[in-house]
Amino acid sequence: MKNSRILGTGSYLPDRVMHNSELEQLVDTTDAWIRERTGIERRHIAADNETTLDLAYAAALNALDAAGMQPNDIDLIVVATTTPDCVFPSVATMLQAKLGVTNASPAFDVQAVCAGFAYALGVGDNFIRANAASTVLVIGAETFSRILNWKDRNTCVLFGDGAGAVVLGASDEVGIHSTHLHADGRYKELLHVPNGVSRGYDVMQQQEAFVQMRGNEVFRMAVSKLHEVVEEALLANNLEKSDIDWLVPHQANIRIIQATARKLRMDMAKVVLTVQDHGNTSAASIPLALDTAVRDGRIQRGDKLLLEGFGGGFAWGAALVTY
Ligand code: COA
Repeated sequence: MKNSRILGTGSYLPDRVMHNSELEQLVDTTDAWIRERTGIERRHIAADNETTLDLAYAAALNALDAAGMQPNDIDLIVVATTTPDCVFPSVATMLQAKLGVTNASPAFDVQAVCAGFAYALGVGDNFIRANAASTVLVIGAETFSRILNWKDRNTCVLFGDGAGAVVLGASDEVGIHSTHLHADGRYKELLHVPNGVSRGYDVMQQQEAFVQMRGNEVFRMAVSKLHEVVEEALLANNLEKSDIDWLVPHQANIRIIQATARKLRMDMAKVVLTVQDHGNTSAASIPLALDTAVRDGRIQRGDKLLLEGFGGGFAWGAALVTY
């Protein structure tokens, strides 16, 4: 059985940066509140004519370049997104066409909201382990700004747009040691966009087309489930907390990240933080953070990484990786 390794990483952020001060003009909030309660200082927002596909495409090119691969080397594309361009076809198939991949390899989307990248990575890794693919493009891409109610201060200050990608390749060396995926559908009401196409297009004009969240309750659940899943990942690999070089967490709130780091007894200097610059980019946040730390030289080949994410559903997951 082959293992999968990360051959290259990439990312893309829209040009437009929205600072907290801009949100002060939209809702009853302050820069100080947002920084103190979330750690967020700014986020990127897609241009009106920019879609999730465009963001995914730019991140994919970036990752392929880093991996030294051509689009036709790819034999599976998995895109994690909750904000696809169309009901169908999937972003993944549109991306396949945009990249010029003509080898008829499979391409599909995965929807697990902020745990989307952990899920997509798990899928890609398992395709390689099952010998069903040898080079996989795994992407998290979101235009979450499109499902925000810009009059709701409980949610609009938290999210941003972006995309991150990795190229996985079959290898004799262990890259991805394990992935651990979970869901508990009983908590839907705490974090959701209540409506969608199956309930009729007319409702899409209303508030129900936007993210609604009971932040406090989500916060408590996130801290508890992330603690459980990182412990599970360490135990499955017979590793100690001290064996981890870098925590690469989903970037929802600095206080959630600090709580996980504390439980791992990890110095914050060993945690990749992008929440201040990106906000919560949902499925894109883990690969964006990973690519940031790979490109600035913090994450080196051979380092042990713990990736984790939690979000709507609830769905959550972790991956233990030697980069
Ligand atoms: N600006 C100013 N005040 C705000 C605000 C904002 N943007 N958003 C909420 N408030 C207010 C609330 O209305 C509340 O006021 P009240 O006491 O008068 O009722 C007060 O701040 C405290 O609200 P609370 O929800 O208890 O704040 P909090 O410290 O829990 O922080 C979140 C709110 C949303 C930042 C936090 O709960 C959180 O990050 N939750 C998890 C969110 C998350 O990770 N979601 C995605 C998962 S992938």
